[in-house]
Amino acid sequence: MLLLHFVPLLLFFHAVSSRPSRAKGPAHSRRKPSLPHVQRPTEVLPVVSRNGTQLPPYDYSYVFQQLIDHNNPSLGTFRQRYWHTYEFYESGGPIILFMPGETDADGYYDYLTNATINGQIAQKLNGATVILEHRFFGNSNPMPDLSVQSLRVHTVQQAIDDLVYFAQNVNLPMPGGDQLATGKAPWILTGGSYGGALVSYTMSDQPDVFYSGYASSAVVEATVDFWGYFEPIRQAMPANCSADIEAVIAHVDTVLTSNNTAQINTLKSTFGLQGLAHNDDFAAALQENFLSWQALQPNSGPGGDFYEFCDALEIKNGVSAGPSGWGLDNALQAWGNYWKSKYYSDICGDDDVETCLGTYDATNPFWSYDYLGQTDRAWNWLLCNEFGFYFDGAPANHPTVASRLVTPAWGERQCGYRFPGAFTSNITSSAAVEPVPDARGVNSAYKGWNTTTERLVFANGINDPWREATVAADGSTNIGSDMQPHLLSDGFHCSDLLVDQGEASAKVKSVQGTALTYFEKWHAEWTPSA
Ligand SMILES: *[C@@H]1O[C@H](CO)[C@@H](O)[C@H](O)[C@H]1NC(C)=O
Ligand SMILES: *[C@@H]1O[C@H](CO)[C@@H](O)[C@H](O)[C@H]1NC(C)=O
Ligand SMILES: *[C@@H]1O[C@H](CO)[C@@H](O)[C@H](O)[C@H]1NC(C)=O
Ligand SMILES: *[C@@H]1O[C@H](CO)[C@@H](O)[C@H](O)[C@H]1NC(C)=O
Ligand SMILES: *[C@@H]1O[C@H](CO)[C@@H](O)[C@H](O)[C@H]1NC(C)=O
Ligand SMILES: *[C@@H]1O[C@H](CO)[C@@H](O)[C@H](O)[C@H]1NC(C)=O
Repeated sequence: MLLLHFVPLLLFFHAVSSRPSRAKGPAHSRRKPSLPHVQRPTEVLPVVSRNGTQLPPYDYSYVFQQLIDHNNPSLGTFRQRYWHTYEFYESGGPIILFMPGETDADGYYDYLTNATINGQIAQKLNGATVILEHRFFGNSNPMPDLSVQSLRVHTVQQAIDDLVYFAQNVNLPMPGGDQLATGKAPWILTGGSYGGALVSYTMSDQPDVFYSGYASSAVVEATVDFWGYFEPIRQAMPANCSADIEAVIAHVDTVLTSNNTAQINTLKSTFGLQGLAHNDDFAAALQENFLSWQALQPNSGPGGDFYEFCDALEIKNGVSAGPSGWGLDNALQAWGNYWKSKYYSDICGDDDVETCLGTYDATNPFWSYDYLGQTDRAWNWLLCNEFGFYFDGAPANHPTVASRLVTPAWGERQCGYRFPGAFTSNITSSAAVEPVPDARGVNSAYKGWNTTTERLVFANGINDPWREATVAADGSTNIGSDMQPHLLSDGFHCSDLLVDQGEASAKVKSVQGTALTYFEKWHAEWTPSA
């Protein structure tokens, strides 16, 4: 069954109910490991094929009729968006399918172009590029809402099956597009972050569909207690800054566990957060300062939010601290003043502290809004149900920049507010059934960082805060092989997907060049299946 849909998506636009006025959730609920954007060229020229034919613009979206439920095809299909170009295509070239992961893919169509690794592969091997929006994100919705009932078909396995079914059935809107399904043409699956994990998972789960793959910053090892998020940050930030932060956090944890209400209130008011009722909400608020690390890239230059924070702690009267910092007293006051003078309004605007940083109001209507288009809710479903990835403090024997008062239970409680009744069990319950989130189940099904898939490139950045969930984690024993190269740069999250980051870092450029060499070699070895 081949389905061609050459119609602009606008015709199929799903009515999305307008955003209720009190839709605000806690600031942290917006955390996502999203892909960096391509820095757009100032002038977008017409897209032209190799023989000079003018092609549709990159932002032109197409629709594929995807199965709503791969376990029950009789439920029918939904409209899944994709973007596509064949500007570099010549007969025999590969189809490069990019999975953008947990985002509205509109605005990511630059990932079709040679500003990214996808277009680089296409340009080198005469390929065509495709971006397929993930179900339940953007305008690719199998169900009319994001209710618990609808989200039953929002699983990693369904996303894997979408990629496979698409590649096996799409009739690409290009000459000979009905002769390019997997088996007839070599398909290269690519992605970054969660999308990168899907590359590895898909190739492991259904090995004979995609010929080769590129997984950037792929968070393959699902981890409930994901204190490792802060580890690359702790290791890479200036030594004085980490020394002072560790000292403050040790003090914070001592005070918060002291049961001394007066001391606890004094501590909170140092940051202007005395209005925050729950101690773990206060402890979690202090994590916010590290989240800007994820926006860093090799070409960020000085003066980013993260460095502004370290400067606030480490520069006193124009003088910068030595490697061990200024010590607890100065750091505590400086961090607190930074919140009071600037940072609180940066992240909370005019909101009161409990609205912005509190998580205990189970009656806040925000939790139950289930209208389409909420990427945070759709992503949180996957976290609550399968991945975990709760950011928290390191174990007691390990240095930490994040308070140990925050544990997976802090995130899990909010899963209960968001998706009431969805989970039969969870890690804080003692019931003898599979825990939710079922990270162990995910790792056992899709092999985590132990995957043995061949013709799969893993590319990682040493400074990526998600590194501990990738094959480049300190704890991973998989060192890769010539058939599963593990490439490591000095980059950050998904840096190697972008050509301009290669311009900013020789090591990122070298990862990209090495990857291209592998794809060239493997492509030469490809033969159609009988
Ligand atoms: C040029 O390419 C277009 C699209 O690939 C194709 O339809 C057309 O036949 C080609 N023309 C020539 C002269 O090769
Ligand atoms: C990238 O592709 C565009 C066409 O889309 C082309 O004009 C440009 O030369 C290519 N860049 C490189 C570095 O090859
Ligand atoms: C604080 O109170 C808790 C609960 O009553 C108790 O378990 C803990 O030992 C107390 N901590 C200190 C430092 O007194
Ligand atoms: C100390 O902190 C300053 C300001 O953030 C930074 O520029 C410098 O590199 C740090 N020095 C050391 C040795 O950590
Ligand atoms: C997890 O289990 C605990 C204890 O049984 C319960 O209080 C909590 O609401 C549950 N959380 C979720 C997300 O179901
Ligand atoms: C990966 O392999 C290591 C070492 O054999 C093992 O301890 C670990 O449980 C495996 N992890 C997964 C997700 O299979």
